[in-house]
Amino acid sequence: MGKIHVANLATRIPEAELVAVCDILPEELARVAGKFNIAVRFPEFTRMLERPDIEAVAICTPSNTHYQLVLEALAARKHVFCEKPLDPAIEKVEEMNAQARARGLHLMVGFNRRFDPNFAKVREIVKSGAIGEPHVVRITSRDPAPPPEQFIRASGGLFLDMTIHDFDMASYLAGSPVTEVYARATVLVDPVFERAGDWDTAVVTLTFANGAMGTIDNSRQAVYGYDQRVEVFGSKGMVTVGNNTPDNHILLDRVGVHSALPLNFFMERYTESYRREMQAFVEAVKANRPVPVTAYDSLMAVVIGLAAAKSVRENRPVKISELYDGGN
Ligand SMILES: NC(=O)c1ccc[n+]([C@@H]2O[C@H](COP(=O)([O-])OP(=O)(O)OC[C@H]3O[C@@H](n4cnc5c(N)ncnc54)[C@H](O)[C@@H]3O)[C@@H](O)[C@H]2O)c1
Repeated sequence: MGKIHVANLATRIPEAELVAVCDILPEELARVAGKFNIAVRFPEFTRMLERPDIEAVAICTPSNTHYQLVLEALAARKHVFCEKPLDPAIEKVEEMNAQARARGLHLMVGFNRRFDPNFAKVREIVKSGAIGEPHVVRITSRDPAPPPEQFIRASGGLFLDMTIHDFDMASYLAGSPVTEVYARATVLVDPVFERAGDWDTAVVTLTFANGAMGTIDNSRQAVYGYDQRVEVFGSKGMVTVGNNTPDNHILLDRVGVHSALPLNFFMERYTESYRREMQAFVEAVKANRPVPVTAYDSLMAVVIGLAAAKSVRENRPVKISELYDGGN
């Protein structure tokens, strides 16, 4: 993810000046900085934070380092963009949020799918009232292939690593928070998930505060590529978007009708969303406007993920209020 954000900041977001890059792996640092001709390089994050000409940082390290690095950056008075999730622990997200607020600093979380032009259009249509009251949100989200075992073990599990994007998208599209989760999950793709105490296939039912309902289905392996579709059905109509493909051709022959497979994975499918989310962060910092995705959004997606895992383990619907009382 760091490479994607560096590439965008260096070449596609003229409002930002990329001052320095940091990575604890010297070869990785040299490769990325060399590719984009960035002279100022740091193997240590704390040293980079000492530079007064750095106003904001983008933290794209593994999720279990976010808490420490975000707090260090805020203490050094830098605005922070951090990849999702901020942290799987509710108290830690609350602390990061409180530290940012106390210092008047921006803290934005990388739920990039909100910035995908297709999904943003769906949200815009729902918000406009064109489909009336939303009744059902449907999200299909399937990866092309499972990640390596090491990643699975450190990922926080299916719901906190993968479905977390869909939880955020579901609340965003419905325009309403989730109040209850009922999830079923299993291992159908690869026994490695079972060994890691995880699942690779899930179906989740959501209830929103506004009365609407939602479904999410996930798989860690769709043999035809990255399957990313959403639909919102309402009292006056329905809005839906399908997969993005490398081209729009349709071939008809004696066997059938054929078209291109979906774009293979997130780097290709969500390219534009990553640029747009970083642009939104830069604009919010420069104009001192609220960031469009907050620590609270990350917290709520984590809480829904924890509720989904609890629901699977206890085989029952779980209310969000069982895990989080809204900070009261
Ligand atoms: N938004 C998305 O679509 C999306 C997609 C993939 C990953 N992610 C998130 O992005 C984050 C990074 O994931 P990734 O797959 O790019 O990880 P990665 O392991 O490929 O890369 C992480 C990099 O951080 C460096 N690093 C580790 N600790 C460091 C430290 N203390 N200081 C400086 N550099 C350090 C590592 O050397 C490595 O180069 C995770 O939080 C993940 O959940 C988001």
